[in-house]
Amino acid sequence: MSTIAGTTFLSEPVISDREFDLLLTELETLEAKHPEFEDPNSPTKRVGSGLTDQFEKVPHSRPMLSLSNSYNQDELQEWADRVQKETAGDCRFTCELKYDGVAIALHYQNGGLVRALTRGDGTIGEDITTNVRTIRTLPIQLSASAPDVLEIRGEIVLPFSAFDALNARMKEEGKKTFVNPRNTASGSLKLQDSGEVARRGLDCFLYGVELEGTDLTSHSEGVHAAQNWGFKTPLVLSNAFEVAMDVAGVMRYVNRWEEARHALPFAIDGVVIKVDETVHRNSLGATAKSPRWALAYKFETEQGLTRLKRIDYQVGRTGAITPVARLEPVFIAGTTVENASLHNADQISHLDIREGDLVQVEKGGEIIPKVVGVVLAERPDSSLVHVYATHCPDCGTALERADDEAKHHCPNALGCPEQIKGRIEHFASRKAMNIDGLGDKSVEQLWSSGMVNAPADLYQLSLAPLLTLERMGETKAGNLLAGIEASKAVPFERVLFGLGIRHVGETVAKRLARHFGSIEAMRLADREALLELDVVGPVIADAVLSFFDDEAQQRHLSGLIDSGLQFVGDVESKPQGTALLGKKCVVSGVFSIPRDEVKRLVEQQGGKLAGTVSGSTDYLIAGEKMGPSKREKAERLGVRILSEVEFMEMM
Ligand code: IVH
Repeated sequence: MSTIAGTTFLSEPVISDREFDLLLTELETLEAKHPEFEDPNSPTKRVGSGLTDQFEKVPHSRPMLSLSNSYNQDELQEWADRVQKETAGDCRFTCELKYDGVAIALHYQNGGLVRALTRGDGTIGEDITTNVRTIRTLPIQLSASAPDVLEIRGEIVLPFSAFDALNARMKEEGKKTFVNPRNTASGSLKLQDSGEVARRGLDCFLYGVELEGTDLTSHSEGVHAAQNWGFKTPLVLSNAFEVAMDVAGVMRYVNRWEEARHALPFAIDGVVIKVDETVHRNSLGATAKSPRWALAYKFETEQGLTRLKRIDYQVGRTGAITPVARLEPVFIAGTTVENASLHNADQISHLDIREGDLVQVEKGGEIIPKVVGVVLAERPDSSLVHVYATHCPDCGTALERADDEAKHHCPNALGCPEQIKGRIEHFASRKAMNIDGLGDKSVEQLWSSGMVNAPADLYQLSLAPLLTLERMGETKAGNLLAGIEASKAVPFERVLFGLGIRHVGETVAKRLARHFGSIEAMRLADREALLELDVVGPVIADAVLSFFDDEAQQRHLSGLIDSGLQFVGDVESKPQGTALLGKKCVVSGVFSIPRDEVKRLVEQQGGKLAGTVSGSTDYLIAGEKMGPSKREKAERLGVRILSEVEFMEMM
C-alpha cells in the first residue's frame, strides 16, 4: 500500500519494474523452449509485437450508452427525486469517479480475456484486444471464482506521469507532442504496433459488471466481486467508491473529490452516481442515449490566465473561417493549452480581444479551450484593436459574411486547397466512408500530386501512379486501394454524411437517408418535403436544396454514383398498424418479452413513447414490478393503465 498526496492505493505493484522485466525475460525463454505450453494469455503476450492490420468491427452485447450530465446540486436533486419516486424511495446511490479516458468492454471466457472492444458508435465496437492485452494492470487471467462467461466495462486512462514521459520521448525524437491524456489514450489504443502501446503505460479501471445473467443483486456487489476476480476497480483508491443513502451523502462525496481530484495521478472530469440495486436499475431502464439509473456530475470547467501571442485564422472544409488564439503555454486541468478558439469576429470585438492581452482561457470536458475574457488592467499601452481578417488565410480570396451568419466564409469552394482537402478528409473519415490509410497526410500527398481533387477522384486511383509517390510502397498503396474499394459497401446514410452537405451532420444524414431511401428521392424533394422531418429546419433544408442546385457538386456526385457507391438505402418502416395512432404511451416494469420489444410494438402501431407519466399521457403500459408511484400518478391523472395482456390484445 502506498500514499500519493493523501490518496492511498491498495493495489501497488509488489515487485519493481526491473524485477518484473527480468521475470518476464525468463518466462519468454521458457516458452521458447517449451512451445507446448503456449498460452495466448501469458504475460509475455502483453509486451506486444508485430503489426495489427485493422480492427474488426464487433457488435456489443448491449449498447454502450453515454451518461446524462448534471452540474449542480439542484440538477442532482431533480434526478434523485425522479429516481426515488419511481423506486418508491428505497434505493441507494453508489458514487464513483468519472475517469476521463476511453470506454472499454472486456469479454472473458473461462477466466481468460478473449475480446476487448471500444465503444465505437455504441452499437458496434472495434476489437482492440491485442493492444488492450498490453496494459499491465488489466488481468488477462481471472481468479478461479470468476464466472465462466463474463463481460465487464470500464475506462482506460493514461496517467499524467505516463503522458509526460511519452511527450518527453516524442520531443527527444523530434516528433510532435500530444495535447491531452484522454486523446492520447484513445489514439494509443488504435495503434497498429502493440509494442508501442505497451510502452505508453496505459492504466484501467473496471467498474461495470454486466449484471444480466449473473446473480448479483447490486452494482456495489458487482464492483466488489470484480475486485476479487482480479480487476482493478474503483475500490483500489481509498474513498473513491461509496454507497450513499441520499443526495446529502452524494454531495459530500462530490465536494470531497472536487478538491481532492487535483492530487490524483490521472484525470477525472466529475463523478458518476448510480442506482445500486439491480431491480431498480431494470425498472428504470434507459433512453436511447443514456441509462436513467445513472447520472454524471460534472465539475466546473477550469480556467487559466495566459498571454495571447497572436490571432491566426483557419479555414474549414465548408469555407467557414475560425479565428484561433495562439497562447503562451498554460497548464489547465491536467494539460498544457497553447491554442484556443475565438469563435468569430463578433466575439472578438465584443470582448475587445487584442494580441498581447492577458486572457482568461477556459477548458471544459471535450470542447476545445476557449478565450472567455480579457484582463484589461494588464493590457499593454501599445495594444491595438484587432482588425479581423479580410482574406482567406489559405487561398487569399476576399472573405464574405452572410447577414444571418456569425462566421466569415471563403467563397472559393472549388479552388481553396484547405477546403478541398478538408472535404476529402471528411469523406474518408471514420463516421463517413471510413477509408483506412487515408488520413490528413495521405490526403495532402494525393492532392499535391494532382491525383485527387475531389472525393470522386479516389475511385479512379490505381496502383502504378500511386507507387510514384514518396513513402508509398506496394503494401501501403495496396491497403489504400483496398480501403477505397471496401468503402463502396458503406451504407447510404454514411455516404450522405460523407458528401459534406453544409449543416448535414451524422444524425441528420441518417434521418434523411432513412426517410427518403435514395439520393434520387432526395433530389426530387422540395423544401416542404424536407421540412417534414423533425430534424430539418429552414437552414438545413436550404443547404440541401443548394447542394442539389450547385453544378460542381452535382458533377462530383455523378462521379461518385458512377463509381458504384451506395446511394440507395432502407426506408424506415412506417407504422404497420393504427391501434395506438398518435397516442402517448409510457412503458414501465418488467414484461415477458424485452421492454424494448414492447416499445417497438408501440411505435409500430403509431404510438409515441414518453419517459414519464404526465397529464398528456394516454396509456401507461404496466409490466410486473412497476414502481407504485408511477401507478399512483397515472391513477391520479386519470391515465389509462394497460396490463401486458390488455396491451397484447390491443396489438
Ligand atoms: S458508467 C453510460 N461509470 O463516461 C453507461 N461511466 O458519458 C454507464 N465513464 O462512456 C457508464 N467513468 O466511458 C460509468 N465511473 C464511471 C465512469 C464512466 C467514466 C465514462 C464512460 C462512458 C462515459 C459516459
